[in-house]
Amino acid sequence: MNILVTGGAGYIGSHTVRLLEKKADRVVVYDNLVKGHRQAVGKSVFVQGDLLDSGKLIDTIQRYAISSVVHFAAASLVGESMGKPRDYYRNNVQGTLNLLDVMLDNKVGKLVFSSTAAVYGEPEITPITEDAAKNPTNVYGRTKLAMENAMDDYSRAYGLKYIALRYFNACGADPAGDIGEDHEPETHLVPLVLRACLGKSDGIKIFGDDYPTQDGTCIRDYIHVTDLAQAHGLALEALYGGHGSDVYNLGNGSGFSVKEIIEAAETVTGIKIRQEVIARRAGDPAVLVAGAAKIKRDMNWQPQYTDIKEIIATAWRWHRANPDGFPRLGDR
Ligand code: UFG
Repeated sequence: MNILVTGGAGYIGSHTVRLLEKKADRVVVYDNLVKGHRQAVGKSVFVQGDLLDSGKLIDTIQRYAISSVVHFAAASLVGESMGKPRDYYRNNVQGTLNLLDVMLDNKVGKLVFSSTAAVYGEPEITPITEDAAKNPTNVYGRTKLAMENAMDDYSRAYGLKYIALRYFNACGADPAGDIGEDHEPETHLVPLVLRACLGKSDGIKIFGDDYPTQDGTCIRDYIHVTDLAQAHGLALEALYGGHGSDVYNLGNGSGFSVKEIIEAAETVTGIKIRQEVIARRAGDPAVLVAGAAKIKRDMNWQPQYTDIKEIIATAWRWHRANPDGFPRLGDR
């Protein structure tokens, strides 16, 4: 297995790379470092490149005799996507179509694709199963759904074998402690709450408490990044073992409200967090909780982290040790 990991310097990508390094003959990280961190890559081969640079992609795939791709590289912020659809369509649609062209032209026929719970939109039934209706409420979800549809068509017409993994809310950090979540700007709930605990902000703003949920705040399914990473390894092995194209949810199957996450973080850190309720954020569905029975059944995926406090504790360890995130290049 010579695996190309696009976006392998990013948060979920770098955690997956750590696990793939143990299974693969060679892992090649391809990342433009717009969001990713060179320091997160570890011992894999690193190529700095953009998905829209076909020449560099072709060169990388041929030079390292790539046989499969795990494709993370994308813009992935629900709120941002509403105001910057051009960026999202360029990165997530144009970039992915380009990658698919290069793969097909170079006879690379296996792909694990980062998809998202955002493809479902406001679900009719919770927990959400893979066959639920897909009506994304935000641009980000629409770009990912467009690519799921493209892969489905390419699978039928050109024999591409893909597994799309629909993530719910990734959080936590590698228990080994040298990689974690570091976005700039940070918009995700768990790292923002922990940054508040570190005194890096003056508290957390809750986006709306008038949703139809028990405490009025949005409910999400929080899944540890290492459990997500494990699923990518299983999906790749399945593809190499002859598994056909398929789609899987990846979540814990239980939901926590924004207020419950803040409370859990207060328990883990022992620090009281200032909170203020402000207006809803555009594009946010009220409840997103995964039904992950399918991947458990088909691939024997078993999440190791099911307790939200334990998940937050791994993130807290990383944030406490790295209060400013990865050292910026040139810092040392
Ligand atoms: N939230 C706040 N205040 C903040 C930040 C977030 O109240 O300062 C709320 C959001 O409104 C949302 C919840 O906390 O209800 C979680 O928000 P995140 O921004 O952490 O995550 P999202 O649910 O928006 O999105 C994440 C990923 C997406 C993925 C989605 C799937 O970023 O890529 O989970 O559930 F599609």
